[in-house]
Amino acid sequence: MSDKIFIRTAEHSDVAAIGALHARVFGPGRFARSAYRVREGRRDGNPLSDFCHVAMRGNRLIAAITLSDVKIGGAPGALLLGPIAVDPDFAGQGYGRQLIAEGLEDARIAGKSLVILVGDEPYYGRLGFTCVPPGQITLPGPVNPQRLLAYPLKDGAIEAARGLVTSAL
Ligand SMILES: CC(C)(COP(=O)(O)OP(=O)(O)OC[C@H]1O[C@@H](n2cnc3c(N)ncnc32)[C@H](O)[C@@H]1OP(=O)(O)O)[C@@H](O)C(=O)NCCC(=O)NCCS
Repeated sequence: MSDKIFIRTAEHSDVAAIGALHARVFGPGRFARSAYRVREGRRDGNPLSDFCHVAMRGNRLIAAITLSDVKIGGAPGALLLGPIAVDPDFAGQGYGRQLIAEGLEDARIAGKSLVILVGDEPYYGRLGFTCVPPGQITLPGPVNPQRLLAYPLKDGAIEAARGLVTSAL
């Protein structure tokens, strides 16, 4: 098997391997995560969007990022990032950062305005995400306001986003 690791857009055939990675990294509590709860609202049942990426070592999936189309307060144009998971055997080697960069770049090219997530500011802050002012954006279920972060792809996109996050599909 090739040792070379490459990143590509996620395909429907990756769904099972992504699920197995999430189970390994997050355990049984993963379905309570905000991203799962928002995606439950999707009508087509497809867990992947065009913005999802995977890192592969040969045919072993070692990392995956999921981005879902959402509305904020009924307005389209935003993506919810999450989960992102890197196989612990490959953590700390830049794959998380690279997957996020790929997702953000594709979102920008597609004309999206904003990417939001629930996560650790010490990690995502270094990648350009900032805290959303408390109460401005809400998710189905409780979220620690210090963990609700956003990355604007257009000027003023954070300030303009107000309301409940729901699936756009
Ligand atoms: C968090 C995660 C996606 C980071 O991906 P990664 O490929 O391991 O990390 P990167 O190589 O991009 O970045 C590594 C750096 O981030 C830091 N880092 C990693 N996780 C961090 C966290 N939760 N908080 C603060 N810093 C963190 C590392 O210490 C390292 O710092 P350094 O560059 O100063 O040495 C990955 O470790 C992971 O899957 N963790 C478990 C699942 C998880 O928590 N996912 C995020 C919530 S959806």
